[in-house]
Amino acid sequence: MNDYGYVVRKFVELYGGSEEGVRVFTSPGRVNLIGEHTDYNGGYVFPAAIEQSSIIALRRRDDGNKTIRLAATDLDDRVVIDINDIDASRSLKWGNYQAGVAYILRQEGYQICPCDILYHDEVPLGSGLSSSAAIEVVMALALATLSNETNGIDGPVDMIKMAKLAQRAENVFCGVSCGIMDQFASAMGRRDNAIFLDCKTLDFKYVPLVLRDYKIIIGNTKKKRSLAEGKYNERCAECKVALEQLRIAKPGAECLRDFSVDEFEDAKALIQDDTCRIRAEHVIYECDRVLKSVQALRDSNLTDFGKLMTASHISLRDLYEVTGPHLDCMVEQSLKVDGCIGSRMTGAGFGGCTVSIVKDSSVDGFIQTVGQAYTEKMGIVPEFYVSDAADGAREIKLG
Ligand code: GLA
Repeated sequence: MNDYGYVVRKFVELYGGSEEGVRVFTSPGRVNLIGEHTDYNGGYVFPAAIEQSSIIALRRRDDGNKTIRLAATDLDDRVVIDINDIDASRSLKWGNYQAGVAYILRQEGYQICPCDILYHDEVPLGSGLSSSAAIEVVMALALATLSNETNGIDGPVDMIKMAKLAQRAENVFCGVSCGIMDQFASAMGRRDNAIFLDCKTLDFKYVPLVLRDYKIIIGNTKKKRSLAEGKYNERCAECKVALEQLRIAKPGAECLRDFSVDEFEDAKALIQDDTCRIRAEHVIYECDRVLKSVQALRDSNLTDFGKLMTASHISLRDLYEVTGPHLDCMVEQSLKVDGCIGSRMTGAGFGGCTVSIVKDSSVDGFIQTVGQAYTEKMGIVPEFYVSDAADGAREIKLG
């Protein structure tokens, strides 16, 4: 993993020239520990960056063509983005996220420089570990770096700004109403820490992920999901309806998170539609669970942390209805293992990954038992990653 030399060699094979002048940027995927479907409701989330990343090798071009050429180590697709007509790249199957970032950065006044880029994506695509945010944030960082250098602007790129621009690219260019969590975690991750983020204010705190003799295990159901499938945007719309009606009780409220659990309980009858009411219930209780989880972790109370994770899954299954048989099966099997103190889906849902907290000494047994049971029931062989919290987006200075 993180084989930067390999990406540079592949770059030279593909685009020619020498390794000199080839730069490497990287941005990680993320695992969300708790706080799901809260970000676009102004709520709290608690993600950590993971080791698997989207790595790019990049070189400026000065042949006079105002284009960005894109390729990936694992795809035959080659994409050329016309810098003066980025809009034309809107419907790309692969390259859409990158084009979206270039489009938004250009709108924001960054100078988009002609360059060649090779992507090497370690984050499994469509797995709920934010492969798209990793792709976007590394692109944003690289393009902003070149732009700043061209314009003589010193100092590091503002990564919170990059996270926001990458999110906007996904919203306006790719048509997914995603929140800020994934891009923020990818941009701002810190080794051995999770990020407690308030998605309304973007205030955040790093919380040391001290798990003592426990590990975080990510279980990939291998059931692909896609946010663009429409269910995601449907949930966003349902939350909006719920907010509109709840506001009668609290006119100043800007988002669902502005309601405490008690306020919600007093006002929930205002939400006429049963579905919208249970969506809001999930969001408001989930925000409360995030606050409790952060406290539990600070108090080294991992048992409570695990229980809150499991409660989150149940709410996502029964109230938010974004889990599905694959995620439910994996969580159910995970919780049967002695030494697993909490398990839930992570990310948007509808397939993708679970996250579990498992005792060190049970990790091998967990992978074996859950893997076998899941394969028997679902007919798919899952994958597992034992994950530490990793650093966020950065340029890698090659030695
Ligand atoms: C996806 C989105 C995030 C967030 C999660 C659900 O990962 O990109 O913004 O909404 O789903 O918590």
